[in-house]
Amino acid sequence: SSSTPWWKTAAIYQIYPASFKDSNGDGIGDLPGIIGKLDYIQSLGVDAIWLCPMYDSPQHDMGYDISDYEAVYAPYGTVADVETLIAACHERGMRILLDLVINHTSDQHAWFKESRSSKTNPKRNWYIWRPARYDADGTRRPPNNWRSTFGGSAWEWDEETQEYYLHLFAVQQPDLNWELSETRVAIYESAVEFWLRKGIDGFRVDTVNMYSKPLDFPDAPVIDPTLDCQPAYSLYCNGPRIHEFLRELGHILQRYNAMTVGELPHTPRMADVLDYVSAKQKQLSMVFQFDLVDIGFGAGLRYDTSPRNWTLSDLRARVARTQALVDGSTDGWSTTFLENHDQARSVSRFGCDDAVTHPELWERSAKMLAMFVASLSGTLFVYQGQEIGMANAPADWDIEEEYKDLDSLNYYNYVKEHRRDDPGALARAKAALAHLARDHGRMPMQWDATPNAGFTTASAKPWMRVHDNYPTLNVKRQVHRPASVLAFWRELLRVRRANAAVFAEGVFADTDASNEAVFVFEKRAVQQKLVVALNFTADRQVVDLAASLGGTYKTLLKNYEEEPLDALQPYEGRIYLVQ
Ligand code: NOJ
Ligand code: CA
Repeated sequence: SSSTPWWKTAAIYQIYPASFKDSNGDGIGDLPGIIGKLDYIQSLGVDAIWLCPMYDSPQHDMGYDISDYEAVYAPYGTVADVETLIAACHERGMRILLDLVINHTSDQHAWFKESRSSKTNPKRNWYIWRPARYDADGTRRPPNNWRSTFGGSAWEWDEETQEYYLHLFAVQQPDLNWELSETRVAIYESAVEFWLRKGIDGFRVDTVNMYSKPLDFPDAPVIDPTLDCQPAYSLYCNGPRIHEFLRELGHILQRYNAMTVGELPHTPRMADVLDYVSAKQKQLSMVFQFDLVDIGFGAGLRYDTSPRNWTLSDLRARVARTQALVDGSTDGWSTTFLENHDQARSVSRFGCDDAVTHPELWERSAKMLAMFVASLSGTLFVYQGQEIGMANAPADWDIEEEYKDLDSLNYYNYVKEHRRDDPGALARAKAALAHLARDHGRMPMQWDATPNAGFTTASAKPWMRVHDNYPTLNVKRQVHRPASVLAFWRELLRVRRANAAVFAEGVFADTDASNEAVFVFEKRAVQQKLVVALNFTADRQVVDLAASLGGTYKTLLKNYEEEPLDALQPYEGRIYLVQ
């Protein structure tokens, strides 16, 4: 209906600027490169793009450490290039979201440089400074035992002014103090309105639930006694004033009719999620929930796990839990996604990623996973390279040499130093990183079979190594082949749009929650339903689809020719429309 906002049934394509397309041969992707590929993006049939941080930054965390909200990282281009990109998207009828990173800045931001310059500087309290604790023997300790997301204490000692500052992420990412209205106003002006005035359509909002900290900064319970600091998500996520802050931010966003998708980690209770996205609350349009993509992560540290450490029954329970937010029973909204720049590739986690020696299984599983994510309700996000079935880095790549993410390297070095007496520890860490590291989603986009996969010039050294499989797996090989993963995604997005009521807004129901091999679910809308049948294994599975398909039905999408109702081939998927 006309009152439905554009974003509910939309498909949004996420771009990681460093790795999308390099236009000038310096080995780093850039804005002119993105602009040159907009026709390709439009041809996928997406409604909008989300651009990961392109702001000026020392790049300790790939631009999530911003040193100037109103400037662009020079290797990516200029503010004028962003203006060109905005106009070029709009000319094509696409919208554009930027990434809003306002929990923290870079330690090189002018605000932090002032803040750390002295205890009496007017901006001292724009960040979170606390005195040390001292043991009886005089040993200095941080204000509490919180662990930062990337390892080590969340507090960094400042020798100059003899206090600690809080950083929930890297040492180079000090947390802003949202308690001061003066700070919030500065954030709104510089990070938010500066770009809204340029005509962007909204924001993906980084770590949206961490702005309000409990001001007594209590110690976190000891989850892992081998760690010297403890994960404290339950203490600093969803803090006491968070919804007050987001309503305030919401007033500004509404003036520009901007949509927002907030990143909402560590929030397992659906009632808590709804507080962010309930339409009457006027805070966020939707959120990214992590229930699904966090499957198989270690209980304490993400990489303290083994590869493929997940079951289908667990996965389907996570799907059922999160779909409950978008089934019309609430006034909230959410997203469906399997990949982003913080995740490993979905074919590597849930399918077959060996495009070179098992091309058929790889292709079928990429299509099956596409059917899976696109037939769930919520706004659909597709990450660059997902549409061609890009895979994790080969397991034999040297981690110290090829991986660039500080989170991966911190973990690797931590295991090396602290788990020396456990002989298998380093091999397990390597295997876990080969499976789950954030680096896998950050490798250069594979455009064609020329050296460096057409991402950059043949003689350049790309900032991250190009995957060895690029001669087989690239856009050029798929773009005109009707049976390709890319062609399948285009068709899938077209069909999703044409049947949005049931694809994007239908009511999810699992048909057999304990089945560990085949995931058959239904999506109901008025007078029609989808039956989605997905084989998550590399073996043939016996099924009974006839029962679910009573009535007249037609096959909307499939990844095998034959479609017997009593069996699914390896990684087979089908989507039926029943009327
Ligand atoms: C979430 C971002 O997606 C991730 O890449 C980043 O490291 C953290 N937030 C910190 O900004
Ligand atoms: Ca470049």
